[in-house]
Amino acid sequence: MRDTERLGRIPPYLFAELERKIAQKKADGIDVISLGIGDPDTPTPPNVVAAMERAVRDPGTHQYPSNRGRAEFREAVSAFYDRRFGVALDPDTQVMPAIGGKECIFNVNLAFLDEGDVALAADPGYPVYTGGPLLVGAEPVLMPLVPERGFVPDLAAIPADALRRARTIFLNYPNNPTGAVVPGGFFEEVVAFAREHDLLVVHDSAYSELTFDGYVAPSFLAVPGAIDVGVEVFSLSKAYNMTGWRCGAIAGNAGAVARYWKLKTNIDSGLFEAVQLAGAEALSGPQDSVAEMCAIYARRRDLVIDALREIGIAIEPPKGTIYVWAPVPAGHTSASFCEEVLEQAAVVVSPGSSYGTNGEGFFRISLTVPDDRLGEAVERMRGSLA
Ligand SMILES: Cc1ncc(COP(=O)(O)O)c(C=O)c1O
Repeated sequence: MRDTERLGRIPPYLFAELERKIAQKKADGIDVISLGIGDPDTPTPPNVVAAMERAVRDPGTHQYPSNRGRAEFREAVSAFYDRRFGVALDPDTQVMPAIGGKECIFNVNLAFLDEGDVALAADPGYPVYTGGPLLVGAEPVLMPLVPERGFVPDLAAIPADALRRARTIFLNYPNNPTGAVVPGGFFEEVVAFAREHDLLVVHDSAYSELTFDGYVAPSFLAVPGAIDVGVEVFSLSKAYNMTGWRCGAIAGNAGAVARYWKLKTNIDSGLFEAVQLAGAEALSGPQDSVAEMCAIYARRRDLVIDALREIGIAIEPPKGTIYVWAPVPAGHTSASFCEEVLEQAAVVVSPGSSYGTNGEGFFRISLTVPDDRLGEAVERMRGSLA
């Protein structure tokens, strides 16, 4: 069977060899600890599970959902945005459920890009910002995120030809994989830039609730004029430990939400209504679990930062996300360092280059493993790499 031309546009997977080595170690009975994937290890809060139990017993949730979504869900998102970010959203026209942020980000590409269009995407970045445009025949043009600029793109450096063809710009703060948070004034700059170049801003706020040291992440939509030029992709996955539930929302510009809805009615049949009702409970019910998760991740982050310092890697603690992003020691590439960590410590960390060319020279540690396993992983790294 051959790849379609479309699938052929996705670059070959660079880390097949690393994955083969991980699989081999596991097959040999070695206790490999994976700090690779960002998938919360703690359960969904009990009030959300209870809401799901109630909702799933109601036969009214068993039929096709509408893609517009249940009023309860849209109203809960709107009330959350008002309470949390001071952003007023009309639940009827400016909010729609999504089957997770990933679905939404991909489909935004289908809804807003034609063949030959350009999507501006952060590098390193969440892979769908580049895979999505490639699959729809558009061209991702990368905006380097480098430590010298606080992992914020230099909008003035985007080539004029790319800018002429650009229709969308993907941004994400707090940022995966770098853990960076948005500096004051940047979102305002983005609004002016989007107006000037007629771009749709797609701000991915997957980690907005997971922040530390008193930092509170803003919504892009809170910036004056943002709602005229952009949407935010909100996800319940990380804040409420709901990665398996597939629950998110697109919020913001009504025209963009309407186009996303038009596309979605031709692709899927919406988000299971019981999940929407559980999501509404997550957003409207007690928020203590979010504070608890922030405390857990801050503690784990500090554990990792201390251990890295001992093996000669000194970095500033990130103020958000569930990741630590750090430079590899001198003499290593991302891949060679990750292989060494696997060989010496039987610990999996992600090569920065898997998030884009500007990720080369870095690696990412995910904080989503129980404290004792993370402690064991950092002990092994200390022991074998110090
Ligand atoms: C930046 C970013 N956006 C979106 C997602 C996808 O989240 P969801 O589970 O809502 O599809 C992830 C998941 O890791 C992510 O890191």
